[in-house]
Amino acid sequence: MARWVRVARTDEVPAGEGRYFEVEGEPIAVFHVDGQYYAISDICTHEEASLAEGDLDGEIVECALHGARFNVRTGAVVAPPAVVPVRTYPVRIIDGQIEIEL
Ligand code: FES
Repeated sequence: MARWVRVARTDEVPAGEGRYFEVEGEPIAVFHVDGQYYAISDICTHEEASLAEGDLDGEIVECALHGARFNVRTGAVVAPPAVVPVRTYPVRIIDGQIEIEL
């Protein structure tokens, strides 16, 4: 059954950036875009690269390895070489803590 799990404090993810967190064994990238927080699987669907380490431009993150681009809000691929969307996780903020639904 889905449940909410605490990931980090909001101030651990600066505006316009992403951060990597391991949450109950799952690699998660959290991005802070225009006051909103988005969580996706940290692993690029092309090969094995960390998306938290990619460049964030608005709500688009570019994989540092081969340049695939994903929308961090929807998980959609917006530029190849990746073709498979990345998994997204619902996010909520409770008392300054980022939580995701696993
Ligand atoms: S591993 Fe991300 S684009 Fe290749």
